[in-house]
Order: sequence, then C-alpha cells, then structure tokens
Amino acid sequence: MSEPNIKREGFSSGLAVFFATLGSAVGLGNIWKFPYLTGANGGGAFLLIYFICIVCVGVPVMVSEFYIGRRTRKNAVGSFKVLTGKPGTPWKGIGLMGVAAAYLIMFFYSDVAGWVYFYCFKAFTGQLAGITKDAVGPLFGQVIGAGTAGQPLSAATLSPLVWQVIVMTVVGTILSMGVRGGIERITKTLMPLLFLLIIICDIRALTLPGAGKGIDFLFHVDFSKITAPVILSALGLAFFKLSLGMGTMITYGSYFTDDNHMIQTAGKVAASDTLVSMLAGLAIFPTVFSFGMEPSAGPGLLFMTIPLVFNQMPFGGILLACFFLLTCFAATTAMLSLVEVPIAYFVEELKVSRVKATVFNCVLIALVGITATLSVDSSSYLGQYKFFGKGFFDLYDYLSSNIILPLGGLCIALFVGYCNKREDIADELSNHGTLANASTVDAYRFIIRFVSPALLILVFLNSVGILKF
Ligand code: PHE
Repeated sequence: MSEPNIKREGFSSGLAVFFATLGSAVGLGNIWKFPYLTGANGGGAFLLIYFICIVCVGVPVMVSEFYIGRRTRKNAVGSFKVLTGKPGTPWKGIGLMGVAAAYLIMFFYSDVAGWVYFYCFKAFTGQLAGITKDAVGPLFGQVIGAGTAGQPLSAATLSPLVWQVIVMTVVGTILSMGVRGGIERITKTLMPLLFLLIIICDIRALTLPGAGKGIDFLFHVDFSKITAPVILSALGLAFFKLSLGMGTMITYGSYFTDDNHMIQTAGKVAASDTLVSMLAGLAIFPTVFSFGMEPSAGPGLLFMTIPLVFNQMPFGGILLACFFLLTCFAATTAMLSLVEVPIAYFVEELKVSRVKATVFNCVLIALVGITATLSVDSSSYLGQYKFFGKGFFDLYDYLSSNIILPLGGLCIALFVGYCNKREDIADELSNHGTLANASTVDAYRFIIRFVSPALLILVFLNSVGILKF
C-alpha cells in the first residue's frame, strides 16, 4: 500500500524549534507543580533527586524521542512502525500508551489551567487588589470549589467547569490553525516575557523579611527525607516537566528542521526549563516563609503565595495580572503539545481531518475533565470516590506522571538503545555526518542502553517495595 499523501508541516527555523519545544516543557509544571511537590516532599532533598533524574534520565530520553520523531517524520505511533519496518510492531504500544497519557494529563491539567484563567480574570478586574494572608486560602477554595455534595448546583459550582470549557475552546481554536501558524507564533513571543516577569517576582520575594528561610528550605538537603515515594515523585516530575515518555517530543521532533543539533537542543531545553522552575521556587518559598505559611500546602501553593508577593510592590496589581496572563500562555502552549499527540495520531493513522480530530479530542477532554474538576476537594460531588486512596484528579495525575511516563521512557530508551543500529543513530544525531559529534553520540548511546534503564528499573523496584535503598 502506498503512503497517503499528507503534506506535513514543520517548524521554520532552529529558534522556532527551541521555543516550541521549550513551550511544551514550560507550563504549569514549573509554576504550579514543581513548587508544590518540592514543598510537600521536603525541599532540598527532593530537588537533588529531581536534578539527578533530569540529567541521567530526562535529557537522554529527550534525545531519543527527537531521534525517533525526526528520523521518521511521523506521529508517536507511526514512527515505531517505520523504524521497525513492521506495521504490527508491539513497540507502537509506546505511542498508544502516550495517547492515553495525553488524555489523562489533560483531564486534570485543563482543570488547573481553568483556575489560572480564573485568577487572571480576577487580577485584571481588580478583585485580587490588597488581598491579605487570611483571605488567600478561602479565595482558592472558592475558585476550585466545585460545590458540596448533596447541595443544589450553584453558579460557584459551575464556574470551574465553565473556565475549563473556555480553556479547551482556546486550545482547540489554536490547534485547528495548524503547527506553524498556531504553535510557533505564540511560543516564540511569549516565553521570554514570562521569564522576565518571574525574575521581577523573584527580586521582590527575595527581599521580603524572613526570605532566607525559604532559600534554606529549597537548598538544604536533608537525606532523611529521601524515601521511595519521594524518589518516584521526583522521577515522575522530571518526565512530566520535560514532556517525556509519551510521544510529545517524538511528535515535535518530527517537525524539527534537518539541521537541528538535537543533543544540544535537548540540553538547552532541559537547562532552561529547570531554570524557570527554580525561579518559580525562588519566588514562592521565600514568600511562604515570610508570611508564615506552610510549604506543604499542596496544589493551592501558587495561588496562595503569588498574589501576596505582588501586593508588596509598586504597580503590583497590574504586574500580578500580567503574571497570571503569562502563566495562562505557558499553560496553553504546554496543552497544545499535549493535545497534539492524539491529534497527530488521529490525522495520520486514523485518517481523520485535522479540524474534526481537534474538535473530537477537545470535547472529549472537556467532558471527562469534569470528573477531575468535581473531585478536587473532598466535600465536592465526586470527591468522595476514591481509587487506591486517590480521587479522580489525583488518580489521573499519579497514573500518568508516576507510572505511564517513566514506563514509556524506559521503553523508549530500550527501543533506541537495543533495536536501532548504531550507524542510524549516529547518522541522525550528526545530521548525516555534518556535525562532528561522534564521541557525544557514543556517550549518549551508552547512557541510553545502560544508565537510564538501570535507574528507571531501580526506582520502579524500590517503589513497589521489592528493593530497598
Ligand atoms: N511539561 C508540561 C508542564 O510542565 C506538561 C506536559 C507534560 C506537556 C507532558 C506535554 C507532555 O507543564
């Protein structure tokens, strides 16, 4: 059967590749998830494990995904068929698992993005002006509050759902415009602006009285805090942060330019992404300690601290509004890359038109996402349903970040390490011999064959209790 004649789009330049990839990596993971997980898991010790995961597993898996994507110029499922030469190859299960992970992540991510959109709206309409330490908690409860079970539905109950629908409408509209027009234009302009705003926020947070305790919390490593669940969370966060283990970077790699130095791109994206997370941490933890709050406050940490920092500065109101606006953009660009995984699969493998695939996927996510939104607080409609002790929201998060993504990463490492020829890998990573990077390619191949799989397997065995360390 001949290949269908689908014209593939791609990114236009090296800079566009970098910003689009960074646009996928940087998102709520940096600004919302990284600080709250670091806070809940004891600070510096968690951070140390996180760094190790990024360097020893994250970057090598990212290079592997780029390799698979650009070598084949296919989506996360089709690429495995091309590389193995077998349409029925079991390796394409990685791609299918990735499509499933994209859905699971989107179910809760679109909910959190809805909170951010809502805070942005509140900031622009002046509703956060002069907010006090005592008011931030109840306000957060009100924003996420999906109503109390047994009570009639009210406007407050519906608001997080309405915001979630708004989020999915925005994402769907941009995605239906296509890769270059949609994803590229937005990411190139907004990433640098977000960076600038976080730095302004840092300067204020670091000069608050008592800020030093926050820095200490972030950087002081207490080895007794390192337990199996902490290690698994740090690993899961590394995958979630760099958008790995589920084919996002395969799909993006398939749009890369031919002359991109993919090992360098992976290193630069990982470093910049980690920098953004650190800067977010440096804004949040000093504020937490300065206001005498709890670092382990959980998913509300971002929403309860940032309004307080901006309150302490001149033009705070407008800067706060800009901060939430840019966070909306960061969340949106990350979601574009998430939903692109099923869309590319639908268009190329199931032969559905791009617009139809976009509408179908966005509606599906908005509908199932309701279960996450209505389960966040335990008194809400679905909050009482627990699976393995977790509500819907936490279950989607745990299954995707801590299980599917690291498992996908392990399979990707093994696939590239053991089922692809050295010459093919060297050819692709050196841009057909135009880059003199043979020793880096060999080091990469060693890591992907031995180091990353060994670490991933050890963490899995440790977390199911078979192995103790
Ligand atoms: N990396 C994104 C973030 O940190 C989330 C994401 C995960 C995006 C997986 C794509 C794939 O917000």
